[in-house]
Amino acid sequence: MNHTSLLRRSGILRFGSCLALAVFAPAAAGTQMQPAPTEPDSPIRLSSNENAFGFSPTARAAMIENIDAGSYYNRNNISDLIETIAQRENVPVSHILTTPGSGPVLEMTALAYAEEGKNVVTTAMGYTQLTRRFEARGGEVRYAPLGEDMGYDFAAMSALIDENTAVVYLCNPNNPTGTLADPAALRRFIMSVPRSVLVFVDEAYLEISDPPFESNTMAPLVRLRPNVLVSRTMSKCFGMAGFRVGYAVASPAILDNLRPYYLGAPTYLSAIGAREALLDTEFMEFSKRSYQEVRNFVTAQFDDMGIEYANPQGAFVYFHAGMNGEALREAMAERGILISGSRESGVEPGTFENWARVSLGNLEQMQAFITALKEILES
Ligand SMILES: Cc1ncc(COP(=O)(O)O)c(C=O)c1O
Repeated sequence: MNHTSLLRRSGILRFGSCLALAVFAPAAAGTQMQPAPTEPDSPIRLSSNENAFGFSPTARAAMIENIDAGSYYNRNNISDLIETIAQRENVPVSHILTTPGSGPVLEMTALAYAEEGKNVVTTAMGYTQLTRRFEARGGEVRYAPLGEDMGYDFAAMSALIDENTAVVYLCNPNNPTGTLADPAALRRFIMSVPRSVLVFVDEAYLEISDPPFESNTMAPLVRLRPNVLVSRTMSKCFGMAGFRVGYAVASPAILDNLRPYYLGAPTYLSAIGAREALLDTEFMEFSKRSYQEVRNFVTAQFDDMGIEYANPQGAFVYFHAGMNGEALREAMAERGILISGSRESGVEPGTFENWARVSLGNLEQMQAFITALKEILES
């Protein structure tokens, strides 16, 4: 619990935010601790694809039990986590690199592979953490247009690859569209990419998608093709976004390319929690089931309302808002519900201006979202 929530509970903040700010305002505005997202009066957060179903109770217990370890550097103490991950992925430990969330894997890849004259091939309307950094380092981003049903157009992606292509990046299920690639088509595409090009498959949401994880993950290709990297995160299905644990599965040669840009491992406590969470299949199944239930609720509501949406296989739904997506985001925020706007990339600006992305929260939160959406669309 942070200072603000302690004070809230003790009633000090009830005197009003002016007094609180006067007493606790730090030197720079906007840097004070915000109320925890779990406080009852905080906004409904449907903008960052966080897990509203909590996280593994055994992970929680293990972290609490080891809380005093927080006084020490983790050094090389997280080998148990790495071994657990290697077992899960069926690769030797030399093929695993753990990071604080999977975001650093994306960033390190851009730092390691981008340079002037090199390009990264990706899809329009994809996740941009790697591609933005690649561009900032002087590389070129080549976007293939979206394919059928807002999915990947692998032929278009192939056509963009040339001798200067350093990386092919795809996110499956994709963010923000939520669509899942046909696994056979994806596998064929990956196998067709020249071995000199790194193929980065970001599977941040794959545990949440409807079809079986095992038949959709591209991790087994890592053993067949030394140019393939798969990234995963504990932030989504496992519900541990704030604890910051993610990892790359790739050949030691690729991981060696990334290592010069490594900024550190997950903390010891997070690693303890992550390991327990990976072993707790019961919570994982519960989380997946909960996402599926809520996803079905939202899509049934959208169907009733005649709202178009892309097939949602992640922790969110990308939908035609029936009005400007940014205006909808603002109107929702006024009602205490945070959603995301159109998140365009690699398209003519405005192409998706009437689309928005809503993360899947719990049923109660999604009911509030649907009620607000009806109100806004009818007003
Ligand atoms: C597709 C995708 N990849 C990676 C990430 C990075 O998340 P994290 O750093 O929490 O693993 C996100 C976060 O939302 C994401 O949507």
